[in-house]
Amino acid sequence: MKTREIKILVHEFENISELSPDEQSLLLEARRITGLAYAPYSGFHVGAAILLGNGQIVTGNNQENSAYPSGLCAERVALFYANANFPESVVKTIAISAAKNGVLVNEPVKPCGSCRQALAETEVRFEKPIRIILDGQDAILVLEGVESLLPLSFSKKAL
Ligand code: THU
Repeated sequence: MKTREIKILVHEFENISELSPDEQSLLLEARRITGLAYAPYSGFHVGAAILLGNGQIVTGNNQENSAYPSGLCAERVALFYANANFPESVVKTIAISAAKNGVLVNEPVKPCGSCRQALAETEVRFEKPIRIILDGQDAILVLEGVESLLPLSFSKKAL
């Protein structure tokens, strides 16, 4: 028996001003779009902003439904919009923010398992790591790729 340790890198920032100007703009877009989320059931408003290889920024937010499982997270709304409209453009960075009662959450928001899997698919599709920015008042976390969110992931390589 062998035991392997898998390490992930998590860069932690105290304030948005510590990010590069481009990443600050992206995160501000994610924050802005939380305000347009449709989340009447949870009151948890999530926003995602994606920087594409063509320089374009696309955004999305969570869309809830009275039949709960029919709703969709902000990350996948943004990601699927990006992949649907710009299938040739690599997804470079995704910034994710969340607010309760209009106030940015304290703890950095973490994507759910299904969104991690969707991000993993996009990373494999474009063969480029996706930079991930997770917003919160206590800290802003920056990950260099989906592997830091979803180690040992399933992908087409297994098929
Ligand atoms: N949600 C997201 O949009 N992204 C996440 O990363 C976590 C959860 C949404 C789903 C649901 O509308 C609400 O937040 C509460 O779970």
